[in-house]
Parts: sequence; structure tokens; C-alpha cells
Amino acid sequence: MQFAVPAEHYDRFMGRYAPTLATALADTAGVTSGMRVIDVGCGPGGLTQELVRRVGAGYVAAIDPAPQFATACRDRLPGVDVRDGVAEKLPWADGEFDVTLSSLVLGFMSDPDQGVREMARVTRPGGTVAACMWDTTAGGMTMLRIFWAAVRQLNPDVEGERRMAGTAEGDIAERFRRAGLEDVTSGALTARADYSGFDDFWEPFTFAVGPAGQYLTTLTGEQHARVRRACRSALPEGSFTLDARAWCARGTVPASASD
Ligand SMILES: C[S@@+](CC[C@H](N)C(=O)[O-])C[C@H]1O[C@@H](n2cnc3c(N)ncnc32)[C@H](O)[C@@H]1O
Repeated sequence: MQFAVPAEHYDRFMGRYAPTLATALADTAGVTSGMRVIDVGCGPGGLTQELVRRVGAGYVAAIDPAPQFATACRDRLPGVDVRDGVAEKLPWADGEFDVTLSSLVLGFMSDPDQGVREMARVTRPGGTVAACMWDTTAGGMTMLRIFWAAVRQLNPDVEGERRMAGTAEGDIAERFRRAGLEDVTSGALTARADYSGFDDFWEPFTFAVGPAGQYLTTLTGEQHARVRRACRSALPEGSFTLDARAWCARGTVPASASD
């Protein structure tokens, strides 16, 4: 289980990109007041919070299979309908939402195509589905690129996060088309995070969050120290900001036959 970690550890590792990434994804999906929206794979609620800001808690639903993340999302955002569960089997009726979003989740689904079909199912005809994943194939997510490049100095054959669903340009759009979504467009979103220094960058990797943190737990003490040193030499002294590119797509649910 790659996300059996406290919400606070996720916040320090990946959640720090949420304010910029969530705004970009919600803009892409056109989320505005009056819409009913859902965040699929909400984690502790970085995107959910942006949705609440735009439409109000009573119009937002969210779901995640990691119980401690669903609980954190519920506690942080009272009034949001937060459920425990997976994208592949969403516990909502057909057409309940105007916009269905998913941020950094497709690659973690056991059946991403089924997840996309379910996202389309719970969205009303004419409504929007949008999703994003970090660009870990071409290396646009700087934090993860630095980490996996350091790992490959030890072991050049490590696959890392290169082949996960949604991480290559155009992959999410292809999945959207296969699921029957129309007017599919794709592009890149830019996010960023500030670090007070190298320790602020490195410590969250030691929390075992996601594929990178999990990989680190498999190394010996000496290997761990070598990866740390390689990351150290790739980053500046003092505080810094890292950019992160995510691939995204949006599509429209076809009008129903009776329309
Ligand atoms: C990288 S985190 C992204 C969290 C949040 N959306 C964000 O943008 O920060 C991936 C999330 O996907 C969730 N997840 C894993 N498999 C899932 C599935 N099949 N359906 C829905 N969510 C899933 C994990 O529990 C985790 O919270």
C-alpha cells in the first residue's frame, strides 16, 4: 500500500504542490460556482479544498481508498461528502456531477480505464471529466526526476515511475477517448513548491510516501546515503523552488440518446 502514511507526511511530500496544481486543474475543467463536483482519489484533500473554495462544501464530493486520507479530508473540509472507496467502483448514481476530477491518481488505479469509465458514468451528459498525472516519463516533475536520477546512479535499470498510467504525454487523452468521452483536449499543467533547504526536500522522502518513498525503504544504509548525496549535489544551497509539470486531459460526456 503506497499511501498507508499519515496525512501530514503526504502534505510535506506531495501536498505542497497542491495549491498550484489544484488551481490549474480546476481552471482546466472550468469549475465555477453552481456546479456539483467530485474529487476522485482525493488524498487528504488538496484539490478538494480548491473545489470547496469555488463551489461550496455542500456541492463537493470526494473519495479515496486510504482510510486515513478520507478521514483527514472529512475533518479538514466539513460538509463535503467524503467516502471511502475506489475510482473503479464509484458509489454514486449515473450523472450526479457536472464535473468529475482526479489529480495524480490514474497511475495508482488497479484498472485505470475502468476508473475513467466510472468517472464518465457519474458525470451528467454534457458534463466534464478532467484528470492529471505528473510527467515522470519525460522528467517534467523536477522533484521526482532528481530522486530517480540519483537512484539510477546506483541502479540504471530501475523503472521508477516512468511507465505508470497517465505519466506519458497524451496517455490520459487516449484513455478518455477509449472511454467514449468527446471533444477531448490535452495539455500540460505547471505547479511548484518552495523548499526551505535540502533537509526540507529530503526528509519527506524518508516518510515512505508513494513509489519513491517506498523504494527508499528497500535500500541498505549505504545505498540510502549514496542516493541522498546524489540528490544533494543536484540541488542549490539554501532555499529553492521546484517546478513540476503534469499532463492533463479534459473531455465531455456525450449527450444521452434521448436528448
Ligand atoms: C498521489 S496521491 C494524490 C492525492 C490527491 N488527489 C492529490 O492531488 O494530492 C494518489 C491517491 O490515489 C489514491 N488511490 C489509489 N488507488 C486508487 C483508486 N483505485 N481509486 C481512487 N483513488 C486511489 C491513494 O490513496 C492516494 O490518495
